Amino acid sequence: MVRDTWATRTGFILAAVGSAVGLGNIWRFPFLTGESGGAVFVVVYLALVALIGLPVMLVEFVIGRRSERNPVGAFRRLGHPSWKFAGAIGALAGFIILSYYSVVGGWVLQYIVASFSGGYTGDTGAFFVQTASGTNAIIYHAIFMALVAGIVSLGVRDGLERAAKLMVPSVIVLLVILAVYAATLPDTGPGYEFYLSPNVDTFASDAVNILPAAAGQAFFTLSLGMGVMITYSSYLGEDRNLLNDSLIIVAIDTFIAILAGLVTFPFLASQGQDLVQDGGGAGAVFISLAAAFETMPAGHLVGGVFFIMLAVAALTSAFSILEMVVSYVVDTFDIARVPATLALAAIIFVIGLPTAMDLNYLDAYDKFANNILLIAGGLVLSLFIGWVFASDALEELGQGRGGNGGFDTYWINVVRYVVPIALLVTLALAIQEYVE
Ligand code: PHE
Ligand code: NA
Repeated sequence: MVRDTWATRTGFILAAVGSAVGLGNIWRFPFLTGESGGAVFVVVYLALVALIGLPVMLVEFVIGRRSERNPVGAFRRLGHPSWKFAGAIGALAGFIILSYYSVVGGWVLQYIVASFSGGYTGDTGAFFVQTASGTNAIIYHAIFMALVAGIVSLGVRDGLERAAKLMVPSVIVLLVILAVYAATLPDTGPGYEFYLSPNVDTFASDAVNILPAAAGQAFFTLSLGMGVMITYSSYLGEDRNLLNDSLIIVAIDTFIAILAGLVTFPFLASQGQDLVQDGGGAGAVFISLAAAFETMPAGHLVGGVFFIMLAVAALTSAFSILEMVVSYVVDTFDIARVPATLALAAIIFVIGLPTAMDLNYLDAYDKFANNILLIAGGLVLSLFIGWVFASDALEELGQGRGGNGGFDTYWINVVRYVVPIALLVTLALAIQEYVE
C-alpha cells in the first residue's frame, strides 16, 4: 500500500499545530490556572511543558515516523506488538476527551450565535449557565459532533490544513488585541498579580494538586499521550527535522495559552470578579470575554470573529481525536471507515451527554482523562522508547538533522529516567485524589 505523505512541506506542522491549539489553550488553561493558585501553576506548567512535554512529543514523532503507522500498527511494525496496548489507552482517552470537548465546542457555537444576535447582553454569568448545561448544550453538542464527523468522513485534510493556516495567526492577532484592550481597563492590577506573580507558599501548601493538574494540562494542550502525534508524524518524510518541528509546535501552543491568560485575568479583575472562585470555574473565559465584548468598541463583531476562530481551533483539535479513534477501531476490527466514523461519533455523543447536563460530570471526565489516562499513555510510550527502542529511536531522531548531537543524549536520558519518574509521581498523586 502506498501511503500519502503531507501534500506540502508545512502540511505536517499545520496539522500538528491545528491539533494542539484549541480549547486547551483558551478555555482550559486559564480555568485551571484560576483553580490552581494562579502564577505558581503557570510556572509549574511551563516547566513541565519544557521538561516533559517536548521530550514526549519527540517520543511520539519518533514512533510515528519510524513505523509509518498509527498507534495500533506502529508497535507491530517496530517488532514489539505487545506494546500496542498503549494504543488502547489512547483510544479510551480519545473517547472520553472528545465526548466533553464537543460539549465545550457546542458552547463556542452558541457564543457565535449570541455575538451576532445580542444573546449575552446584561448578565453574562447567567448566560453562561444557560449555555453550559441543559437542552441548548445538548443540541449544540450534537451539532459540533456532526461537524467533526462530517469532516472526518469526507477526509478533507487539505481543507483542514488551510483552516489551520488561517486560524492560528487570527487567534494570535485577536488575543493580542484583547490583551492590549484589557491593559487599558481600570482595576486590572489584582488580575495581573494573580496570573504573573508566583507565590511560593501556594505551591508549598498545594503541590499535591498543582503537579497533576499542570502535567495533565501539558499533555492535553500539546495533544500528547493519546497517539495523535504518532499518527500525524507517520506521514512524514525523513528530511524533516523532528526537533525543529516540535520546538515550533510547542512554542506556538504555549504562546497562545499565555496570551489567553493575559486576556482572562485582567478582564475578570476589572469586572470585579473573585479571581480564585470565578477564575477557577469552567465558565471563567466565557463569562469574562462576553462581558468584555459587551463594553469594548465594536465588541459584538470582535466577539463574533473571536468565537468563530475559537470554533475552528476546536474543530481542528476534535478532528485529530476522532481521526485517531476511528483509525484505531478501523484497524483493530477491520470495518469500513465511513460507517465506523458515524457510529463512533454517535457513541461519543452519547458518552458526552452527562457532561452536557451537569458541569460536575464535565469536571470528572476532564480530570480522569487528562490527569490519569494521558499521563499513563505518555508513561508507556516513554518507557518503550527509553528502555526497549532507544538506539533505533536515537537514529530516527538524528534523521533530517545530519546525525545526533548533544541534545539527543539529553533527550534519551530524560525519556529514560526523568519522564517516567515524574509521570509516576503525578499519576500516584492523581490516583490518590480519587481514593480520598
Ligand atoms: N490539544 C488540544 C487542545 O489544546 C486538545 C487535544 C487533546 C487534542 C488531546 C488532541 C489530543 O485543545
Ligand atoms: Na493546546
